Amino acid sequence: MQEAAAKIMPRVDRQFIGKVHSEVHAGTGVCLVTCEFDLASYQPELFVELGVAMPESIARSVPKRQAEFLAGRYAAALALQHLAPVRHQDVQVGIGEKRNPLWPTGVVGSISHVDGMAVCAVSHTADKDYLGIDVEVVMSTRVCREVARIVSTRQERELLCGLGLSERVALTLIFSAKESLFKALYPSVRDYFGFEVAEVTELHLEEQTLVLTLTERFAAGHKLPQDYQCQFTQGEHWIQSVTCGKFHGRANLKAVP
Ligand SMILES: CC(C)(COP(=O)(O)OP(=O)(O)OC[C@H]1O[C@@H](n2cnc3c(N)ncnc32)[C@H](O)[C@@H]1OP(=O)(O)O)[C@@H](O)C(=O)NCCC(=O)NCCS
Repeated sequence: MQEAAAKIMPRVDRQFIGKVHSEVHAGTGVCLVTCEFDLASYQPELFVELGVAMPESIARSVPKRQAEFLAGRYAAALALQHLAPVRHQDVQVGIGEKRNPLWPTGVVGSISHVDGMAVCAVSHTADKDYLGIDVEVVMSTRVCREVARIVSTRQERELLCGLGLSERVALTLIFSAKESLFKALYPSVRDYFGFEVAEVTELHLEEQTLVLTLTERFAAGHKLPQDYQCQFTQGEHWIQSVTCGKFHGRANLKAVP
């Protein structure tokens, strides 16, 4: 009987965490860790095994959310170790009031996860004041149609498509870049802000950079600069965006958790 069951359900030794890649991100200089993870291999015990604390809100959530949170925080732990091997060895990255990750003093960082991949980017606050990362799977034509007017303007779409990007890649890039900007600026703005406050105003395909420009009103209201450089990478079926930099000449507003 046991033998028969074993044949029907062979034991599969799958690893939750798959390939891990750490690098100093070209173009931005931030420390970037990418972890593949296998949702089907997730078990709650992995939190202990991987040294990640499970917050109550995560314990109450569905396994998919637990798995992506775990993979993201595991990537964060590796990134922090890479950044300062001794100082951040046992540091846990907490959860802020609007789901924003809480980084140790002296560190700025960001997390994203999608489709079995978690990424984390960190930097010293001496080098960057703000940092946001986002990864998105390239949108289908149907999703593009649904979200185009919510996340972008006609000018933005024309700019990107005019430079040779397909509509699907253009829209995914605009979306991802704006999400990375949101994560980068949230600690300063400390409130939700929509896609309409930023516009892609320049695209440099060879350098894989673009410029996001905040509306004058929003920037002035939050004492923020208007322009932000975003570095993007296109994978087989995904796009990653990193927006980071220094607030030059803006000493009066400090990012707080
Ligand atoms: C919060 C938000 C950015 C998450 O993006 P997403 O594509 O759904 O999911 P991702 O996997 O890329 O990112 C999730 C991670 O973002 C981080 N995040 C969530 N809220 C955040 C916030 N307020 N500030 C900074 N980072 C945040 C978290 O680390 C989260 O992972 P975790 O919960 O496991 O820690 C998105 O849902 C959202 O609400 N966006 C606001 C609207 C917007 O982007 N406006 C554009 C302005 S130009």
